[in-house]
Amino acid sequence: MTLSDEKRQELIRVASQARTRAYAPYSNYQVGAALLTKNGETFTGVNVENAAYSDTICAERSAVFSAVSAGAREFDAIAIVTRNGGAPCGSCRQVLSEFGLDIEVLQADEGENLLQQSTVKDLLPGAFLSQDLLE
Ligand code: THU
Repeated sequence: MTLSDEKRQELIRVASQARTRAYAPYSNYQVGAALLTKNGETFTGVNVENAAYSDTICAERSAVFSAVSAGAREFDAIAIVTRNGGAPCGSCRQVLSEFGLDIEVLQADEGENLLQQSTVKDLLPGAFLSQDLLE
């Protein structure tokens, strides 16, 4: 479903609030994400870093895992807030692709300005999908 501009801005606000809870003592690059389900629920996620750096989890995947853990699997959009409107990493694109190529991806900066609007399909052409496992 296509979102209204008001709904997009609201999702960015929720992601921005979540971002205050990011745990990023090593990179100091705080990321907040807000994932909107098709029935109007919102799940948030933040990056959670670790002294063993590679054990860090990104905000977007935190949000997806939180939603799926609560039983939600159908999503319309994800807002991602960073200080500069940075892009979602490849692993997060792949994880999002599992749940829909048409999910809207909104990248915003710390001023809650929407800098980039795209879809998972735009960001990850040729995603590895469940049908690739057949034959
Ligand atoms: N990070 C995210 O949370 N999402 C992304 O898509 C890109 C990177 C986090 C991981 C790490 O805690 C910090 O940003 C710097 O890479």
